[in-house]
Amino acid sequence: MKINTAEFVISNSDVAKCPKDMLPEYAFIGRSNVGKSSLINMLTNNKNLAKTSGRPGKTQLINHFLVNKNWFLVDLPGYGYARVSKKTKEIFQKFITDYFEKREQLVCAFILIDIRHEAQKIDLEFITYIGEIEIPMCLVFTKADKIGKVKADMAVADYRKKLLANNWEEMPPYFITSSSEGRGREELLEYIDGINRE
Ligand code: GTP
Ligand code: MG
Repeated sequence: MKINTAEFVISNSDVAKCPKDMLPEYAFIGRSNVGKSSLINMLTNNKNLAKTSGRPGKTQLINHFLVNKNWFLVDLPGYGYARVSKKTKEIFQKFITDYFEKREQLVCAFILIDIRHEAQKIDLEFITYIGEIEIPMCLVFTKADKIGKVKADMAVADYRKKLLANNWEEMPPYFITSSSEGRGREELLEYIDGINRE
């Protein structure tokens, strides 16, 4: 899919204030610093669209970006960067869970995972949560430029094993990406295009 236009529309912390258009949208979620905003910039070929930072906690709000005037990419704050340890429920900020539970236009959640790290409890919990509320999801492994192919394959296999052990029948669709190298861009855009055409 060719990206002709990508524009920032609105930031807020209230799902009721998100755009009213009934256009399909795709949300990017994952631990702080995993590369959500960078991936949005990579997909849209615009380094300055979503704000990125080397320090976790950069994205604080729900950000809507309109692409090709007919679908949205949504950048969200990261989870798991609480200064104090909290119960699972509180780790996922209320306005984020509200977004996932109330946003009718959401057609797929892309859950980002740093490919260098072993499956983390908080990610498995979030995957389980998205499964429970029955939102279609994909896993997006990020920062693949930082490790070799063998380790990347091992990371994916580790996830598959842990999900199957957690009563998942199969691994959700997944992508291996690098925002610095543009890896996975075509595959992700084709996947989104396929859903948009359904
Ligand atoms: P929060 O908004 O804080 O939750 O973070 P985020 O998930 O949006 O991460 P962001 O895109 O801001 O990137 C965090 C850091 O990781 C930045 O220093 C990026 O340059 C770096 N980064 C993101 N993607 C990649 C990648 O594919 N490869 C490499 N090497 N670095 C990356
Ligand atoms: Mg961000």
